[in-house]
Amino acid sequence: MEKFIVTGPTSLKGEVCVGGAKNAAVAILPAAVLAQGKCVIENIPNISDITTLLKILRGMGAQVRMIDRSTVEIDTSYLSEPVVPYELARYMRASYYFLGALLTRCNRASVSMPGGCDFGVRPIDQHMKGFEALGATVSIDGGMINAHADLLMGAHIYFDVVSVGATINVILASVKAKGVTILENCAKEPHIVDLANFLNSMGADIRGAGTDVIKIHGVDILHGTTYSIIPDQIEAGTYMVAAAATGGDVLIKNVIPKHLEAITEKLQKAGATVIEYDDSIRVIREGRLRKVNVKTMPHPGFPTDMQPQFTAMLSLAEGTSIVTEGVWDNRFRYVDELRRMGASIQVDGKVAVIEGIGQFTGAPVRAVDLRAGAAVLIAAMAARGVTEIENIAYIERGYENIVEKLSALGADIRKVIVPEHTLKAAL
Ligand code: EPU
Repeated sequence: MEKFIVTGPTSLKGEVCVGGAKNAAVAILPAAVLAQGKCVIENIPNISDITTLLKILRGMGAQVRMIDRSTVEIDTSYLSEPVVPYELARYMRASYYFLGALLTRCNRASVSMPGGCDFGVRPIDQHMKGFEALGATVSIDGGMINAHADLLMGAHIYFDVVSVGATINVILASVKAKGVTILENCAKEPHIVDLANFLNSMGADIRGAGTDVIKIHGVDILHGTTYSIIPDQIEAGTYMVAAAATGGDVLIKNVIPKHLEAITEKLQKAGATVIEYDDSIRVIREGRLRKVNVKTMPHPGFPTDMQPQFTAMLSLAEGTSIVTEGVWDNRFRYVDELRRMGASIQVDGKVAVIEGIGQFTGAPVRAVDLRAGAAVLIAAMAARGVTEIENIAYIERGYENIVEKLSALGADIRKVIVPEHTLKAAL
């Protein structure tokens, strides 16, 4: 088992460069199966979710070649069975994007029920509703989601809830459907726009991505393309919050400041100075942090994927902050870990009341999911003493080269391997 050992407190200082957006990349790589020809995809993040997706593609017969650390060439001219097995799907949520993509490419798809972070129930009814409206038959059998359609026909689909995953999956299924598809009540996240731009660069006709109505004219052929993925909004936001929480001064490079506005606004309210440049953003925090109330919402609201990191930071603020989770039913499971470090947080359903404590103290903790892992890591860098973080595989699913990036900013962080026999002796 691997752990992070973090010794604090540290004030992060210097420059960090953000990688490609995880949640765009995990939609764009499955979408590559739609091309007749090779796709060259640039700015892919160096994270384990991408490694898993590339394994799924290779397993289906795609030719996958890394051109450099962040550029991949994918050729899906020959695909074998349109099946994503449990062994791979269980590691990540986005494996289900192969349903929409393979339905379009092969008229059928079988994908094991996906894994991903545990925030309570994660239904897929809106994905299924969309596929069925396009003419597909969808069933769940033996843990596999099976979809089949002799002919996909454009349709008018109204999503009952705003869902990133359903919006993406139904775009993938409708891009070559006969006629026009209109999707209403769509998610508007930057990665949805990125996926639409990628598909349009292959010859698709998708308009309105980034608004709540998306119109898709089905096309007959999608060709290969070269495309560069947008920077990761949440990785950038995490470094912004880490800078503010540790009383640091960090220039975060390769970002789109527009995507960070909701985070910037709350950081400024909390007392940090945020300076925007064309494609970078600097966060400085000198005085004591102030209390702020935050409610997470679909884009352009405050992102739920920044909620745990903000809660960690607000534990250090003067006064009592209220954080309300507006997207997921159960996204405060990590609070127990912050409490081990001294946080004073009361959770009632989807609301957390955070009393500022001034300083964390190091403790053994674990990452309960990806962004929860980022939250304890931020707390650990701000804490007095040593924090050992277990379950770091969660963190490495979504943050590329995080030890190197934080070390370059002055953090005292080491990744260590704990031998199995030590663990057994400790039980
Ligand atoms: N929902 C339904 N029915 C559906 C789909 C979703 O009721 O068919 C509900 C969910 O239960 C939830 C809400 O709709 O309450 C929003 O879920 P959404 O489908 O938007 O989430 P997702 O697509 O499963 C993506 C990101 C998450 C991020 C959410 C919200 C990916 C791979 N994952 O999940 O990212 O929290 O959108 O922005 O894009 C992360 O990166 O750490 C992460 C968890």
